[in-house]
Amino acid sequence: MNNDKHSKRSGDEPLGNTSVNPTFDAVLAARLSRRRLLQGSLSAGTLAFFGVSLTGCGGGGSSDSGSEPPPANLLGFNAIPISSTDTLSVAAGYTAVAFAPWGTPLTGSLPPYLDGGLNSGTEQEQQVGMHHDGMHYFPIDSKTGGSSSTEGLLVINHEYIDPNTLHPNGPTVMDNQRVVTDEVRKEIAAHGVSVVHIRQQNGVWSIVTPSPFNRRITAGTPMTLSGPVAGSDFVKTLHSPDGSRTRGTLNNCANGYTPWNTYLTCEENWAGYFVNKDETLPREHRRYGVSTSTGRYGWETVTTGEDEYLRFNASTQGATATDDYRNEPNAFGWIVEIDPFDPNSTPVKRTALGRFAHESVAIHAPSAGKPIVAYSGDDSRFEYIYKFVSAGNYDAATANGSLLDSGTLYVAKFNNDGTGEWLALVFGQNGLTEANGFTSQADVLVNTRTAADLVGATKMDRPEWIAIHPDTADVYCTLTNNSRRTLEQVDGANPRGPNPYGHIIKWTEDSADYTGTTFTWDIFILSGTVQDSSGLTADNFHNSPDGLWFDTAGRLWIQTDGQYGEPWGNNQMLAADTATGELRRFFVGPLECEVTGITATPDRKTLFVNIQHPGEDGSPTELTSHWPDGGSARPRSSTVIITKDDGGEVGS
Ligand code: FEO
Ligand code: CA
Ligand code: CA
Ligand code: CA
Repeated sequence: MNNDKHSKRSGDEPLGNTSVNPTFDAVLAARLSRRRLLQGSLSAGTLAFFGVSLTGCGGGGSSDSGSEPPPANLLGFNAIPISSTDTLSVAAGYTAVAFAPWGTPLTGSLPPYLDGGLNSGTEQEQQVGMHHDGMHYFPIDSKTGGSSSTEGLLVINHEYIDPNTLHPNGPTVMDNQRVVTDEVRKEIAAHGVSVVHIRQQNGVWSIVTPSPFNRRITAGTPMTLSGPVAGSDFVKTLHSPDGSRTRGTLNNCANGYTPWNTYLTCEENWAGYFVNKDETLPREHRRYGVSTSTGRYGWETVTTGEDEYLRFNASTQGATATDDYRNEPNAFGWIVEIDPFDPNSTPVKRTALGRFAHESVAIHAPSAGKPIVAYSGDDSRFEYIYKFVSAGNYDAATANGSLLDSGTLYVAKFNNDGTGEWLALVFGQNGLTEANGFTSQADVLVNTRTAADLVGATKMDRPEWIAIHPDTADVYCTLTNNSRRTLEQVDGANPRGPNPYGHIIKWTEDSADYTGTTFTWDIFILSGTVQDSSGLTADNFHNSPDGLWFDTAGRLWIQTDGQYGEPWGNNQMLAADTATGELRRFFVGPLECEVTGITATPDRKTLFVNIQHPGEDGSPTELTSHWPDGGSARPRSSTVIITKDDGGEVGS
């Protein structure tokens, strides 16, 4: 079981791609060193954003010069210093307060949160889940074209759990088996998504209870599969012999949302929840890291033997695939669509968008009569960035999730000269043929990583969030770090080996409707300390950029999930003006947390961010954070509401 202190952190660390795609190119090293020289010549105090300050340096960045000048003082706050305290720090003139932490009563009988891990599984099913991550605010009137900034549905991902904090004394394990079934029920219930109906009155936000909208979706909630993989042999199980259904969503990291007001939750490090003890694993398990010893939390070992837990054992046990759960992992690794406005709706796994460790999904602003264009990164070392172009065209009156069921999935190749290509992952094209081991589009999608290996995609330094500029349509992606890239493996888009601190890449589609297969790209920020980054200062140094989001005014918000302690302080959130290159630290989280997840009301006066796993290095007997409750309380992941004291928009 992953219940020791060390594995809490390593448990969320991704695998590495061990395929043999080439990564080394000396041309890039030359390109990068030329840029470093140029950057060194900039005057003191100028932030050397590659894509902004050095646009004459080849590749990418061209759209910045062609767009309208931004409003003056997009960033209206003063940077704050790093912090290593167990509190929230926010720029002067702002207030940040915890909201809807793990365990907050939400549905049913509204069971109150009990410190000490004392709530039952049944109670957790009616409470906000653990380890908040991506989220989105839907104005309550958005279905009718409204844009309420005082009432809405806040939809929150719960990525994973800390079993030591979830239970009074951690998981009860005997002979490597989970002997207390309710503990496992609670763990499954603490995963998934919360739909939280919220309202602001007299300047104070609260949860509306009871509300028909409040909902918990967990790692056990019934779901359907749609798109090319639905109904294929890859997803037929004892529970769903026709391959149309599954139960639950796992490791919901970052998110997206659609123009038709649905929420998209992304399944990231789902593979380790399953175990397959067969002698040989199929590539759709092996390539993704399905465990060969025990599931991440040992759910498959429940001694009372309920099917809802045994399904996490994907070993061959029956005569055929519909006699066991050998295919259960194939129903995970997808983007899942949830309609937050219909509490009775069944979440849908949209398989056309590919199967990998989805971090987030970002959709270009739609145009009538044009396809939907979405991006998603695969957060593992040396994995890829993908783009989906819908087959159907957008029509605001009729658009719905079926647009995500057919289309073309592409994977990115970043050339060292600053150009790039989208390579189609379509059965029968680019070598994805029977001769090369692919039998159908369902096969290509279930084995998205293997298909991307074959077409020659560029191996990236752990793609995390993707954000699209509201005006320029430039696309930005955090590459959080890659400790395993060697100097021999650097390339243009991943220029440091090793890359302990990460960077942010940006690209501009060549096609006006974003559907084409070529783009230009550039590096936006090389993260790191003041000494080893590219122009960062005391006001903005950081490591491991992860959360990334543009507000509607064009501020780029950057959240970190990296090393903490000296010299970094706790994880933080910064804001950037991508036109001027300004970058300032706005917010710092409590001890041992990650800052992740961000959304705002349409008036930009309320900003919601999430604090995940405060005190993650602690144990029930040795707590290292008491945030947000203080005193001797256990730490709780939580949303944070940030407002400007003068009532203005956040960041202004
Ligand atoms: Fe769950 Fe890649 O962060
Ligand atoms: Ca993340
Ligand atoms: Ca991360
Ligand atoms: Ca995380």
